[in-house]
Amino acid sequence: MTSAAASFSYGTPILEITYIIASVLFVIGLKMLSHPLTARRGNIMAAIGMCLAIAATIIFHRKDGEPIGNIPLILLAIVVGTAIGWIIAKRVKMTAMPQLVSFFNGMGGAAAALISMMEFPHVSADLIERTGMANGHVLAILLGLLIGTVSWAGSMIAFGKLDGWIGDLRVKEMKYVNLTILAVMLGLIVFIMTREVEASRELMPFIYLLFGIAVIYGVLFVMPIGGADMPVVISLLNSFTGVAAAMGGFLYNNQAMLTGGILVGSAGTILTVLMCKAMNRSLLNVIIGVFGGGGAAAGSTAGTVREISLSDAAVLLAYSKKIVIVPGYGLAVAQAQHICHELDKLLDEKGVEVRYAIHPVAGRMPGHMNVLLAEADVPYEQLIESEEINPDLPNTDVVMVIGANDVVNPAAEDDPSSPIYGMPIVRARDAKNIIVMKRGMGKGYAAIENMLFFNPKTRMLFGDAKQTLQNLVSEIKNL
Ligand code: TAP
Repeated sequence: MTSAAASFSYGTPILEITYIIASVLFVIGLKMLSHPLTARRGNIMAAIGMCLAIAATIIFHRKDGEPIGNIPLILLAIVVGTAIGWIIAKRVKMTAMPQLVSFFNGMGGAAAALISMMEFPHVSADLIERTGMANGHVLAILLGLLIGTVSWAGSMIAFGKLDGWIGDLRVKEMKYVNLTILAVMLGLIVFIMTREVEASRELMPFIYLLFGIAVIYGVLFVMPIGGADMPVVISLLNSFTGVAAAMGGFLYNNQAMLTGGILVGSAGTILTVLMCKAMNRSLLNVIIGVFGGGGAAAGSTAGTVREISLSDAAVLLAYSKKIVIVPGYGLAVAQAQHICHELDKLLDEKGVEVRYAIHPVAGRMPGHMNVLLAEADVPYEQLIESEEINPDLPNTDVVMVIGANDVVNPAAEDDPSSPIYGMPIVRARDAKNIIVMKRGMGKGYAAIENMLFFNPKTRMLFGDAKQTLQNLVSEIKNL
């Protein structure tokens, strides 16, 4: 341990052991989160780990031999925070989860930034005398401030975008502006660390400056991103918060904080890389805030829309050999997962092979469709990744798109000016017949026209997904 850290922590061996137990619980919890069947227990395990770490810190932590002060205030903050978090989490609709995740993630970033702001003026005079400002302790503070602030500001913008009250701001030169700001922030960190001062307090104006620039960067970095690219930026911001928290772990020589931060940071980074791959985006472009084609949305003078009657749809489905269902956000909104599974069981009894095409960003959060369909007990083997099922779609009699839009939009392959250009899609248009279930001609999350709806092979079955599926099930039963 460094002598800088020695001025802070630590407590009894019980504290160290509890931190190790908490870290192990985080790792096991994270592992269990990777499968729908164990995810709930995994979440509880990680929560227990966090409770243990917090309780042990409050009870056993010692700073220069002294126990933690302000216990009533800390407990009050925990009670208030828990109550607010509990109420929000209980009330939030499943479809509004991404906003919630983004907001909570932002709070994590803000906490990390606040820690840095609080600790910077307290860098020990002894350390400054020995090393100047250029030491690991100061670097951890500055990086925690920078990354935490970017994560907070970016997450708040992402929250507003996902909630629909902040639009996209696409300016071509944005990437140069962002790169310049990034360079200025790194320059400022070097500047602060190379100052010769007696007390770190003297440099506080530069800390506020760094904070201000990081806020601007966080805002500008997320502003141009929109539509289908939001999931990538959310997971990136998530990893930022993890890294910022890990900086706090270095600062306080706190293993639980360090492990927790590193786990969030690395899991978020891995998810970001996987998302980038799934969305055909480069990580560098994500970091400097350049996304998609950025062109205008396709016009709506797209052609003729054909409808299908309920009875014709029932006949077409019941006499097919192979059907692929493409679930999307609308299925989640309508809460039609149970009736959808009833339909697939009914068709299965009639000898029809039914599978689900799962797009990596269908719905509004990673794994949204998996969770939704698992809730309705759809067997996991029936869920096939879009990449895997695409080659088989030309041999598929009917692709039934239920409340999905962007994830089947051919503009991603055909229109270089489209904001979703380059994103892989479920190639619904390759199937022999396409039935699209949605309420009307409403656009998807990316707010662009979908030429699939005007394809001669496509027939629309308008209505709320749950109601339509219920009617369809009755119709097929009567055949
Ligand atoms: P969307 O493109 O959002 O389209 C959903 C469609 O569902 C809408 O066009 C809407 O059309 C229809 N709909 C809404 N309520 C319905 C209801 N009750 N019954 C029937 N249909 C209903 O969905 P998608 O294809 O799943 O694509 C997801 C989009 O969200 C992507 O752009 C993705 O990038 C973005 N996104 C994803 C995530 C993650 S991680 N999954 C996070 C944030 C954003 P009508 O209004 O005409 O009914």
